[in-house]
Amino acid sequence: MIVARKSREVIELRKKMSGTVGFVPTMGALHEGHLSLIRKAGEENDNVIVSIFVNPTQFLPGEDLEKYPRKEDADIKICEMAGVDLLYMPGADDMYEKDELRISSPALRGYILEGARRPGHFDGVLQVVMKLLNLSCADRAYFGKKDTQQLIHVRQMVRNYFMKTEIVACETVRDRDGLALSSRNVYLSREERKRALSIPRALERAGKLIMNGEMRVSVIEKEMRLVLEKEVDLLEYIAVVDRYFVPISEVRPNDTVILMAVKVGKTRLIDNMWV
Ligand code: PAF
Repeated sequence: MIVARKSREVIELRKKMSGTVGFVPTMGALHEGHLSLIRKAGEENDNVIVSIFVNPTQFLPGEDLEKYPRKEDADIKICEMAGVDLLYMPGADDMYEKDELRISSPALRGYILEGARRPGHFDGVLQVVMKLLNLSCADRAYFGKKDTQQLIHVRQMVRNYFMKTEIVACETVRDRDGLALSSRNVYLSREERKRALSIPRALERAGKLIMNGEMRVSVIEKEMRLVLEKEVDLLEYIAVVDRYFVPISEVRPNDTVILMAVKVGKTRLIDNMWV
């Protein structure tokens, strides 16, 4: 595995790769969720490129940029063992210059749900993902469904800018207790983690209701709230939307996503279920 710190190294090394390239962008502190993306990229492509970059432009003032878990040595070992061919670990100076061109998330969908709570977050995500897709010239790039709104925006960027990379959506990986894997789970105390399990329980409750034929969003939302409200410290939102992120009042199988964001202690957690 080659570890590159500079974008020009990536450009040169990429030119020498033959066959298809699968790309997995990450912010490091790799866990089984990232590994599942890397494995899928390896199964479907001749070469795998991974990036690790804690991207400052997607953090808002007061968010956890400084505190965000960084585990460089462990991450390099994990990538090596997972069969990654090229690991790109740039510094912010390699990625950005002063007074950069900007990419904006869509004016409506970019500013609802996560975009409403974190205005500008998706602009930063799209800016860095555009750079990384251009650098890797990937045939396919792998994104987790855990960050569904991010996935939807990246797909739109690829569509709107006629980019050639296929965006592959991958299932959320969960711990045995059901909590979706996230680098931010390390912030949870043991007691908070117990309470955070109300998140998968609420999604499970929604799933059961739908299986039993309950399609009314108002009923499903109310039941989810009952599961969550006693356990979490702040219920930011529960949203039920179609694949274009338009709120709906009746669940439509194969065209519905149920999303939520909560705070447990100081930790903000998101999760969702595609119906
Ligand atoms: O999902 C993430 O880890 C980040 O948002 C991404 C896609 C690596 C961009 O910084």
